[in-house]
Amino acid sequence: MTKQIQIAIDGPAAAGKSTIAKKTAELLGYTYVDTGAMYRAITYKAIQLNIDLQDGEKLTSLLKETTIELKPSPKGQLVFLDNQEVTDEIRSLKVTASVSQVAAHAHLREEMVLRQLEMGKDGKIVMDGRDIGTHVLTNAELKIFMSASVEERAKRRYLENQKRGIDSVLKELAEEIALRDKMDSERDASPLIQAEDAVFIDTTELTIEQVSEKIMQLAKERMQII
Ligand code: DC
Repeated sequence: MTKQIQIAIDGPAAAGKSTIAKKTAELLGYTYVDTGAMYRAITYKAIQLNIDLQDGEKLTSLLKETTIELKPSPKGQLVFLDNQEVTDEIRSLKVTASVSQVAAHAHLREEMVLRQLEMGKDGKIVMDGRDIGTHVLTNAELKIFMSASVEERAKRRYLENQKRGIDSVLKELAEEIALRDKMDSERDASPLIQAEDAVFIDTTELTIEQVSEKIMQLAKERMQII
């Protein structure tokens, strides 16, 4: 007999979390929640409304009157902001460059965590982000902390952009990733750190298949009822 579990996947920008989390959820028939997309969605709305991204209280009030939905589809997870699809819009360079600033506000994070707890409460979930193992699914049966060198992550992002028809400069991507790592790790409100009980996976030298295999093996172990 198997147990239904919660899986938390954390790590820095472009470490491959969402690819792996999506794949794991698919293989297990679980729900996938991309929490980065939630921070991106509120950042997108704030930019549209010209709201000062330093103003945490204003951003928190804005979030409280905003609906953000993640819906699975054959094309992948779709993101809806106040019932309008914004899946591609939230990946723009402008949103990417601003989101760490928005995600640094403690009260806004509290509201996000409440929503994420609600999404994860029935188990059978794979959630990825920066603070999932430390502040959201703190009792998750399986916690993973994934990382890779900045150079490797920049290279992966470069190829991903190329596939989507976006031209980018490798060096700039590496700088942007390093800056986001710094902002996400050094903020006061639930910074990016590895949970004590998380399994660390360095994906620099590993393929997606190898990482996925490793996580599936761990997930199967944690699903066994003794
Ligand atoms: O995973 P991503 O690049 O889409 O995340 C976008 C930003 O959101 C990232 O720079 C940090 C922030 N984030 C966070 O602070 N906490 C999370 N659980 C998920 C993302």
